[in-house]
Amino acid sequence: HLYPVILAGGSGTRFWPLSRHLYPKQLLRIIGDETLIQQTMRRVLSCAKPDHVIISTNPGQADSIRVQLSEWKSDLQQNYVVEPVGRNTAPAIALVAAELVRRDPEAMMLVLPADHVVTGEKAFRAAVALGSHLAEQGRLVTFGIKPTRPETGYGYIQPNRRTALAKKGRLTGHPVARFVEKPNRAKATQYLKNGNYYWNSGMFLWKAATILEEIRRHQPQLAKAIARVHALMASGADPKDIEAAYKKVPSVSIDNGVMELSANAAMIPVGFGWSDVGNWSSLEEVAPRDKAGNVVSGRVIDMDSSNSVLYADRRVVATIGLSDMVVVDTPDATLICPKSRSQDVKQMVEILKQQG
Ligand code: GDD
Ligand code: MG
Repeated sequence: HLYPVILAGGSGTRFWPLSRHLYPKQLLRIIGDETLIQQTMRRVLSCAKPDHVIISTNPGQADSIRVQLSEWKSDLQQNYVVEPVGRNTAPAIALVAAELVRRDPEAMMLVLPADHVVTGEKAFRAAVALGSHLAEQGRLVTFGIKPTRPETGYGYIQPNRRTALAKKGRLTGHPVARFVEKPNRAKATQYLKNGNYYWNSGMFLWKAATILEEIRRHQPQLAKAIARVHALMASGADPKDIEAAYKKVPSVSIDNGVMELSANAAMIPVGFGWSDVGNWSSLEEVAPRDKAGNVVSGRVIDMDSSNSVLYADRRVVATIGLSDMVVVDTPDATLICPKSRSQDVKQMVEILKQQG
């Protein structure tokens, strides 16, 4: 009874000019021939049936996603849970959980962000297999990634390594001693040095009934509001009433709202490659590089550049002697910045918005 739940409601801006409000990261061909959501779909189908896949998204993105996933007949109405507005991940997950429990009281949810890159299908399936075992026992299962830098945009997990909850092959599941979402720089640096903290990959595995119970315990107001929305949706109420009800749901992430507070969390340190490809420079972690360390895509003619990210969407782009730079050309906008400033693209998008 494994139901992969693909979260595709975010509106990332750090891949501007390729990403746009209604066209965020998951719908882009960032690496390889498929978009990130297509790759996510292909990955989950190695452990679940197409009919069991749930896409959680908003009206602005639903149509584009349907087109991109049409190959897998996931245009099925029942595959989509569409939120009228975004209220962050706790409500999105609560709504899907409520619907799954209605369809199948034993439903197990594998929650996956639509916009991550994962390499190593076999290791992924092994982690899911062990995770299912722990979820069966009522655990909220997280997948831990060995941290490499004091990133402040992630959650950090400290497992209790002395206790092994379950083992399968080379993988072991441990109870979570602490979960800290997006710590400040000083804390993140401390966790990195400590050596026994992992990044939260943003993927989760649990029984739908378990997460509903945990949401009720830690976010009672949110749980009530979502139960109301779900009842309205299930009875085919007027979309305007559903939207009004959804707007009353508090906006909370699953990490802050449940994972930091739960006593039932478990973590599996995983063996697969992972990147949440947060900005242009992070492409280096996952995309193939040429001999000079460049990540090159499209019609780029380069002479003597090194360690740069060069992306041409349509036109020919010629570069000479760049080092540690990002160049992204699209038909209507071009970005040029040092790699170390890739995070600031988010701010630039704000400035562009103000200027209309
Ligand atoms: N349906 C829906 N509705 N999806 C949403 C919503 C929403 O309101 N808000 C966000 N999402 C989707 C995003 O598209 C993304 O795929 C996923 O949920 C996670 O949301 P983010 O907003 O990207 O979270 P984050 O990156 O700040 O933090 C999470 O991921 C990190 C790893 O990338 C946390 O789980 C961290 O702990 C984790 O380290
Ligand atoms: Mg994210």
